[in-house]
Amino acid sequence: MENVYNTHRCMLLRVYDLTSKDKLFLFRFVEPEIAEKWTFKPGQFVQLSLPGLGEVPISICSSPTRRAFFELCIRKVGRVTARIHELKPGDIVGIRGPYGNGFPVEKFEGLDLLIVAAGIGMAPLRSVFLYAMDNRWKFGNITVIHSAKYGNELVFAKELEAMKDIAEAENVKIILTTTRDPEWKGLKGRASEHLDKVNVEPSRCAVVICGPPKMYRSMFERLMKEGYDPRRIFVTLERRMKCGVGKCGHCVAGTSTSWKYVCKDGPVFDYYDIISTPGLLED
Ligand SMILES: Cc1cc2nc3c(=O)[nH]c(=O)nc-3n(C[C@H](O)[C@H](O)[C@H](O)COP(=O)(O)OP(=O)(O)OC[C@H]3O[C@@H](n4cnc5c(N)ncnc54)[C@H](O)[C@@H]3O)c2cc1C
Ligand code: FES
Repeated sequence: MENVYNTHRCMLLRVYDLTSKDKLFLFRFVEPEIAEKWTFKPGQFVQLSLPGLGEVPISICSSPTRRAFFELCIRKVGRVTARIHELKPGDIVGIRGPYGNGFPVEKFEGLDLLIVAAGIGMAPLRSVFLYAMDNRWKFGNITVIHSAKYGNELVFAKELEAMKDIAEAENVKIILTTTRDPEWKGLKGRASEHLDKVNVEPSRCAVVICGPPKMYRSMFERLMKEGYDPRRIFVTLERRMKCGVGKCGHCVAGTSTSWKYVCKDGPVFDYYDIISTPGLLED
């Protein structure tokens, strides 16, 4: 059996600036035999390590349908991520994983899909979106609502804008909105305020959400009111993690008799997991 901590060498191929604090990194495995067999589900994450500095859990933001490479969108917030932002094409990093459960995308087949992301929350959901676009015939209508406080914090706005024409022809609606930007010419307000603009049918729709915990609470409330099925509402959560594989206990939430590991049982949880597990939805 393969050691779950196995770390593989990956080469950085390209870096794209997305916002002042977010960059998109394109990697490929150095060993061809790893590249050939390595795959993942949308919503899974990897542990990226820099020798001598440490490692960080990061969601995979490309689609598993693209096999030659994978992408990570990384926000500079501290020690390790600041160093990652200094990497150049050709540099080598360590990658272990993929870890976590990922979204049950196979269960979404035949359904409409509503993707709701705030800020860098679009990173794991971009993987779901690109997967659905690459398997377009398997899904009904699709709406993406991407929100941020300011226009220049809409991490994937440019990419989504560039896809707008083809998206519309494919029954995919893209909604960009900001909450505090006086300069922003487009829609204003929180994601939950734009549910009246979607092209999906609540009774036959899977919903995936990623953003701050406050956003989940307001989205749950609005989605229930609109008639979305709570069994088909999924969120992906973040926690301080160490091992990423259910061994160290750093990411546990719940009670002494019933608990969940965010790294192993998640990071994707459904609505009922959230309401039945105290502490799961915390900052
Ligand atoms: C499953 C999972 C998926 C993630 N996916 C992404 C992703 O796709 N892109 C991305 O940029 N980041 C992602 N993160 C968050 C990322 O792991 C942290 O930002 C990173 O570990 C910070 O490391 P650092 O050494 O740079 O910062 P540190 O020096 O350790 O901390 C700097 C600041 O960031 C805060 N912080 C550190 N870790 C976390 C965390 N896990 N959650 C919230 N705040 C944290 C600290 O409280 C502190 O304020 C993910 C986290 C998890 C658990
Ligand atoms: S990060 Fe170690 S148990 Fe989850």
